Amino acid sequence: MRTLVTGGAGYIGSHTVLQLIEAGHEVVIADNFSNSRRSVLPRLEELAGQPIPVVEVDLCDVEATDRLVAEGGFDSVIHFAGLKAVGESVEQPIRYYDNNIGSTLSLLKAMDRHGVRRIVFSSSATVYGATPTLPCTEDAPTSATNPYGWTKQMIEQILRDTAVADDSWRIGILRYFNPVGAHPSGLIGEDPAGIPNNLLPYIAQVAVGRRERLAVFGDDYDTPDGTGVRDYIHVDDLAAGHLAALEHLGASDTPVDVWNLGTGQGTSVLELVHSFERACGHEIPYAVAPRRAGDIGSVFAAVDKAHAELGWRATRSVDEGTASTWKWQSQNPTGFPED
Ligand code: NAD
Ligand code: UFG
Repeated sequence: MRTLVTGGAGYIGSHTVLQLIEAGHEVVIADNFSNSRRSVLPRLEELAGQPIPVVEVDLCDVEATDRLVAEGGFDSVIHFAGLKAVGESVEQPIRYYDNNIGSTLSLLKAMDRHGVRRIVFSSSATVYGATPTLPCTEDAPTSATNPYGWTKQMIEQILRDTAVADDSWRIGILRYFNPVGAHPSGLIGEDPAGIPNNLLPYIAQVAVGRRERLAVFGDDYDTPDGTGVRDYIHVDDLAAGHLAALEHLGASDTPVDVWNLGTGQGTSVLELVHSFERACGHEIPYAVAPRRAGDIGSVFAAVDKAHAELGWRATRSVDEGTASTWKWQSQNPTGFPED
């Protein structure tokens, strides 16, 4: 199977590329490096033990994307490429709609034109909105509270409409919960630009001395210790979920389907902090701060559908997530080398 991985230089894409190659796929990465570094590439090749073709392309460029798909000989696409910072999406909505929707439309046009109709798309638990019923099941109503979330909602709708119009498509929508962790080698991991928005990269930067202390956004939620509860899924489990989805689509009669990728387990902010302390061997300084606007108390996944239909479930623990993150962060205190 020859698979195009858009956004394959990014955090989740890079981990998935390695598992695809291990499973015998031929992989081509397409990325514009707007949120990743070229220096991830030699590390990926070292881990894969083989060269990995990379096309530097902005998927919003309709002609370049068409050329890529026309000449690529792909059987399937995994579409990770997109911008993902919630706060930034509120400040720059046009850029988010343009990039996330625009890149997806030019990709789908090219795929349709060249008869490549198998795609796995990176959606998010954000589509369960501000008042989810727990655990979140795939048939729950969806909504959005910010432009980033709207792009996921809209792309899901575009994909469903595409499958209704032409049932030769095989489309897998994967809703990720909270990805954490890094490859066991410590050579690749999450490397956010600027101040991390997400909890675990922030903790990791405090642990390595790049930031003074963690702000815990609220300790008065209706949760066991009052801090926010999320479903942290190891990035290597997430990567395995993509392989399972691709394989399923190859044998499926259903044009479009959706699966949660989560663990089904909730972990609080303070539990994650303590797990990280065990991993790094010292205390993580933190202070309780006001709630963050737009946050909710608890979110975690229903995982039965992915297990029943994809034969996949998460197997790695939260402690493995924090330990591998610490390995990556301590070996690479400032992330990937600058290009
Ligand atoms: P990431 O930013 O590390 O990777 C995304 C990659 O896409 C980057 O390498 C970036 O350079 C590339 N890209 C962006 N726009 C592009 C364009 N127009 N053309 C070509 N390349 C482009 O993010 P990630 O954490 O690996 O997330 C991957 C996907 O999963 C995203 O779609 C994201 O919205 C989704 N997702 C992520 C999370 C999370 O918390 N990390 C949660 C749910 C869903
Ligand atoms: N938190 C802190 N301090 C921080 C950062 C986060 O206390 O510095 C808390 C939050 O309040 C929340 C928990 O840690 O309770 C997790 O926060 P993240 O920002 O890491 O994750 P979210 O669940 O808020 O959101 C993430 C992505 C969204 C995505 C969602 C579901 O950022 O884009 O997961 O996939 F939609």
